Amino acid sequence: MGKLLLAPMEGLVDDVLRDVLTRVGGYDLAVSEFVRVSGSLLSPRAFRRACPELARGSRTRAGTPVAVQLLGSDPQCLADNAAQLAQLSPAGIDLNFGCPAPRVNRHGGGAMLLADPEQLLRISAAVRRAVPAEIPFTAKMRLGVRDTSRTLDCARALAAGGVVALVVHARTRLEAYRPPAHWEWIERISEVVHPPVIANGEVWTTADHARCCAVSGSDDVMIGRGAVADPFLARRIRALAAGEPVDADRSADWRQLQPLLASYWQQVCAKVVDRHAAGRLKLWLAALRRNFVDADALFVAVRTLRSVAEVSRVLERHGVAVRQPAARPASDAGEVDACAR
Ligand SMILES: Cc1cc2nc3c(=O)[nH]c(=O)nc-3n(C[C@H](O)[C@H](O)[C@H](O)COP(=O)(O)O)c2cc1C
Repeated sequence: MGKLLLAPMEGLVDDVLRDVLTRVGGYDLAVSEFVRVSGSLLSPRAFRRACPELARGSRTRAGTPVAVQLLGSDPQCLADNAAQLAQLSPAGIDLNFGCPAPRVNRHGGGAMLLADPEQLLRISAAVRRAVPAEIPFTAKMRLGVRDTSRTLDCARALAAGGVVALVVHARTRLEAYRPPAHWEWIERISEVVHPPVIANGEVWTTADHARCCAVSGSDDVMIGRGAVADPFLARRIRALAAGEPVDADRSADWRQLQPLLASYWQQVCAKVVDRHAAGRLKLWLAALRRNFVDADALFVAVRTLRSVAEVSRVLERHGVAVRQPAARPASDAGEVDACAR
């Protein structure tokens, strides 16, 4: 079977959730949430803060490689930062041409660049020159800003700029996250560019994955929200591909998930200030509710809670055995990502 990639999701999937999800297994590569580049050269510390895995050979603890994503619009600034990042030996450097957030788009970054294929070429060519050949250089794009009139031009520009693979989130900026994802566009793009095109958008189940591969003609798929909502999805896709029996017993999955939730909570408490910890847990539980009735019950039980101690008590009551969270290192005493979407 092809590759499975864990999508970048700013504000939702950080190194802690990447750790937990890649421990469940099934992913070949994860991509970090975007690091915003605007005007200045970021320090190695800033890159490590966004992608702590850089300090561990750019891998999660389970050994899954993590590429780092950059977001910006100025070719030289992106190239300089990519060169700086390359010194830290990331598993890959990816450029974001898909973010629909107005705050990012106002400065010409993210999906707005899809209106200007010539600029995509300038950016990708400059970054290509700055990144040593041994570090995979990739890009992630949507189909366009408002329509698909320039989709192929954008893909051609990024290919000409030297990306070794292109992830396509098969929707326009205007379509935001509304289903469906237009997987058929992946095939059209693959027909006009040489680098492999990785399909992305609306894969929530093993059946979605199979349909996505069939319609897009791509074996490689990046999974975003579906991975967060079902930590076992990638593993199940692999088991199916290997002809192994697939157990879709959600209560058995929930029992496997309980220690992972405990590990997640413990790591979150060690990483962020107390007042942000409950919010992080609620975000993941809100996603898990889609597939797990027990996650729904837990979400309802913690919804109004704010303190770490209260949340820990409720988790215990729901069978999530929480060990005393480790003390937070002084240097990490804050929210990890400064980039708000
Ligand atoms: C909360 C959230 C944050 C996201 N952050 C990023 C990001 O930092 N970089 C990026 O390229 N895409 C980002 N995306 C888009 C996802 O990577 C992915 O392309 C999109 O969710 C579609 O895939 P899915 O339907 O499998 O979720 C984000 C999506 C969500 C929902």
